[in-house]
Amino acid sequence: MIRLLTVIGARPQIIKAAAFSRAIQKWNNTHIDKPVKEVILHTGQHYDDNMSAVFFRELSIPEPDINLHVGSGSHGTQTARMIEGIEQVLQNALQRDEPFDGVVLYGDTNSTLAGAVAASKIHVPVFHIEAGLRSYNMSMPEEINRIVCDQLSTILFSPTQTGVDNLQREGLTNSPARFADGNRRKVVLSGDVMFDNSMYFLSMAEQQSEVLQKYSLAPKHFVLATIHRPANTDNPERLTAIFSALLRIADKGQTIVLPLHPRTRKLLSVNLLPEIYQRLRSCEHMLITEPAGFFDIIRLERHASLVLTDSGGVQKEAFFFETPSVILRTETEWVEIVNAGAGILADADEEMIVKAADELMGKAVHFPKLFGDAHAAEHILACIIDSFGQ
Ligand code: UD1
Ligand code: UDP
Repeated sequence: MIRLLTVIGARPQIIKAAAFSRAIQKWNNTHIDKPVKEVILHTGQHYDDNMSAVFFRELSIPEPDINLHVGSGSHGTQTARMIEGIEQVLQNALQRDEPFDGVVLYGDTNSTLAGAVAASKIHVPVFHIEAGLRSYNMSMPEEINRIVCDQLSTILFSPTQTGVDNLQREGLTNSPARFADGNRRKVVLSGDVMFDNSMYFLSMAEQQSEVLQKYSLAPKHFVLATIHRPANTDNPERLTAIFSALLRIADKGQTIVLPLHPRTRKLLSVNLLPEIYQRLRSCEHMLITEPAGFFDIIRLERHASLVLTDSGGVQKEAFFFETPSVILRTETEWVEIVNAGAGILADADEEMIVKAADELMGKAVHFPKLFGDAHAAEHILACIIDSFGQ
């Protein structure tokens, strides 16, 4: 039996883990003699019902076997608590004589970093899903997390060719480094588990989500916006510029649906210019909601005329559903979207955001298939199993 510890903690990781758990279930149904046991560890980085539990319910992800309940905190405090907790779980398994054969990590959050540090130091192989992505912006906590995690990983699963090229540039594809098990690092172009999920859950979302009816939204007559990056939320000038642009787009008659991340909700009244904050509260075309469930958000992404976002996941899912996006950042890890003309980098610049929105809503956009075959998680699992010689 192969024992894997999946470490998750933040919203997008919980969602991504659904695809891998599905792949394990499928494998176990057809390979009774070679089962894979997945133990899910939730660090507790995200904990509100609508940032965590909702996804386990909707996406049929097995309940976490372990929850470290680390909660929020500074980077150092939060990450240190996670490392301590994950190490303990790995050591306990070893003492029970049921050691984990590997740790599966997603993306670039503090939970990812903690999993990579805890496991690699005690010689448990690290499998990194969403490896190789780079913004080349070292002021992003995610960039630090993903660089460190990639360095410590034994198999790096990149969703895109760009990711593989980035890893090659950093010398990770042919690195002479050897891990404790004697193996060298391996880089695999796997496709994107988020694309798997988007395709798998779309028809369920269309049938079960009532979000359009609930808010009286006509398909292709509303804009979806999400904002949560600290570079935007924590900077009064940038946050004010983004919301000034949203208000101008709303004033043209487009309803803007804005499911607010808790980080952003806490900072709106603090960091927005008071005049913009007041206008936001009274604008009839601005629909501010709690964070959406997955079925609601993918329905919104699919039927919006446009997405305005600083989220990596939302920008990508919009692309999967052929909705163009204005990216509220100076750069993106998903350069394919911009290169295809389906996304425009508008930074937190009021004029650029309004102009990009006008441009994307008025033109025909092409959405090439660039993110795999919707079976990335199955390819990843097969590759992991293969690495154990089974
Ligand atoms: C984290 C990730 C980011 C990812 C995002 C996905 C890091 C460094 N950042 O950012 O890469 O894009 O998750 O959403 O790991 N909060 C709540 N309830 C919750 C969770 C958070 O109220 O359930 C509030 C707390 O005030 C907390 C703040 O949101 O301090 C930020 O949460 P945190 O997990 O530290 O970072 P995110 O901005 O969510
Ligand atoms: N998401 C969600 N509800 C929301 C906003 C996002 O379910 O209100 C989902 C979205 O569909 C995607 C993931 O969360 O799968 C993206 O997470 P987020 O934007 O928090 O982080 P990022 O992808 O930028 O790391």
